[in-house]
Amino acid sequence: MEPILELQSARLLMRQWQDEDLPAFAAMCADPQVMRYFPAPLTRLESAALIGRVRGHFAEHGFGLWALERKDTGEFIGFTGLGVVGFDAPFTPAVEIGWRLAKEHWGLGYASEAAWTALRAGFDQLKLEEIVSFTAGQNAQSEKVMQAIGMHHDPQDDFDHPRLALDHPLRRHVLYRISREQWLQTLHE
Ligand SMILES: CC(C)(COP(=O)(O)OP(=O)(O)OC[C@H]1O[C@@H](n2cnc3c(N)ncnc32)[C@H](O)[C@@H]1OP(=O)(O)O)[C@@H](O)C(=O)NCCC(=O)NCCS
Repeated sequence: MEPILELQSARLLMRQWQDEDLPAFAAMCADPQVMRYFPAPLTRLESAALIGRVRGHFAEHGFGLWALERKDTGEFIGFTGLGVVGFDAPFTPAVEIGWRLAKEHWGLGYASEAAWTALRAGFDQLKLEEIVSFTAGQNAQSEKVMQAIGMHHDPQDDFDHPRLALDHPLRRHVLYRISREQWLQTLHE
């Protein structure tokens, strides 16, 4: 299958990562508010390594976390995309959808807009049967995006993240799912 290198929504270009994205990406990942529901903010080196892993995922799977660029200003504002879940859990193997935006661009609907576009690519182009999303139970803002794009939550799916210590306060995660059929239904609502 042809790799999905670029997508577009009304206000966003969802594109491949450029070396020039690093300063803004590193600043975003160093922001304690953005990283509040992750174990720790990232150093510049960790952010650079993450871009490397994202590029590797695109090379291996033909899809991944697209860099988001605002069409009106040309600014890099974060990422949204699809990823193969990299750990074992009751719901794996699975493809997840995820997002991270710089704080200045919150509250404008960009995450949900990009997530709709990524979801459509997952079902339309990649022909996936289901897409999941998960986050720490405290991260209500991220859950709102999951709900906005028509994902469903069954508390029985919630799980302890295997990469976090047993006593880590963020260990408990909520899981949302959307099947191809549910997605098709949302198109007719
Ligand atoms: C999760 C995250 C991406 C959500 O960002 P967000 O800005 O709240 O989400 P959206 O871009 O979809 O914007 C929705 C908000 O914009 C408002 N909005 C304004 N204009 C809008 C428009 N044109 N369309 C849709 N919503 C719009 C909505 O009313 C909503 O506001 P509300 O939260 O007060 O109800 C952001 O908080 C983030 O990057 N967090 C840190 C990283 C993270 O936790 N990622 C998830 C880990 S799993």
